[in-house]
Amino acid sequence: MIESGKTYLVMGLLDPQSIAYFIGKTIETLGGKVIYSVQNEVVKKRYLDPSKLITGAEKAALDLRFCDVSKEDQIQALFEGLGTLAGVVHSIAYANPKTCMGTEFHTSSMSDVMKSYQISCASLATVTREAAPHMKDGGSVIALSFDTHHVYPLYNWMGIHKAALEALVRALARRHGRDRIRVNAISSGPVSTMAASKIPDFEHIGNLWQQLSPIAWDPVADRQAVANAAAFLMSPLSAKITGQILAVDGGASIMGGPLMDHEKA
Ligand SMILES: NC(=O)c1ccc[n+]([C@@H]2O[C@H](COP(=O)([O-])OP(=O)(O)OC[C@H]3O[C@@H](n4cnc5c(N)ncnc54)[C@H](O)[C@@H]3O)[C@@H](O)[C@H]2O)c1
Repeated sequence: MIESGKTYLVMGLLDPQSIAYFIGKTIETLGGKVIYSVQNEVVKKRYLDPSKLITGAEKAALDLRFCDVSKEDQIQALFEGLGTLAGVVHSIAYANPKTCMGTEFHTSSMSDVMKSYQISCASLATVTREAAPHMKDGGSVIALSFDTHHVYPLYNWMGIHKAALEALVRALARRHGRDRIRVNAISSGPVSTMAASKIPDFEHIGNLWQQLSPIAWDPVADRQAVANAAAFLMSPLSAKITGQILAVDGGASIMGGPLMDHEKA
């Protein structure tokens, strides 16, 4: 389904547990060429280099670039070094757990709230704008979201920024339709990654999914389900789909309450 030999930029690789890693590997398996972006050298040295989940040879084979999306010049520099792209994945989010998440809805550090918004949401607009000249034959951009139809405890500002991200996906889909660039998001169920581990009491959301999901949800194995959907959105099979939020979450986000006993597998 991925067009063989075409190049895809996957942004937001931290380690081999990252959604970005699963998406990149899936695109590669389907015949695409993948360039990954990592936030900076420090992140690479701290998380990717010491990881025992993949071999040194596998790490050396990754085509890595660096880009901190809070710095517009770094986004521009990243794209300047690239040729033609068929797709771009924005798999990036950040929120200071102390000031943007937790039991209270904090407003004491607006600079942290704005930083979280810039990285987790607004950067998608810069990335899409800079990607556009590299997609002269059209292309696909996706971002990663989390259920914005319901309110989750402790997730606070990140939930607001995901709602803004989904609105931005629709606005960018309208803007870039004339460039034949599609913009969509995947709303993923909770999966085990470094970003998830920073969400206070993430286990609570994981447990909630066990009670809600009509199709059993596995936070480890189902990273692949998210990656498969991303490959579909990157491919011509999804040619006329744009401005959409595709939930890949076992169905949990449609539920009006937990599964009753007779509904459980
Ligand atoms: N893990 C989940 O349960 C889950 C569920 C739904 C959506 N998501 C979303 O998936 C995306 C990827 O997260 P993940 O779960 O794979 O975790 P992850 O920690 O592996 O990835 C998050 C990435 O964001 C990057 N990042 C943070 N600040 C950055 C900056 N200033 N510049 C560039 N990169 C920066 C980090 O370096 C990291 O690579 C995020 O948007 C996240 O919100 C995750």
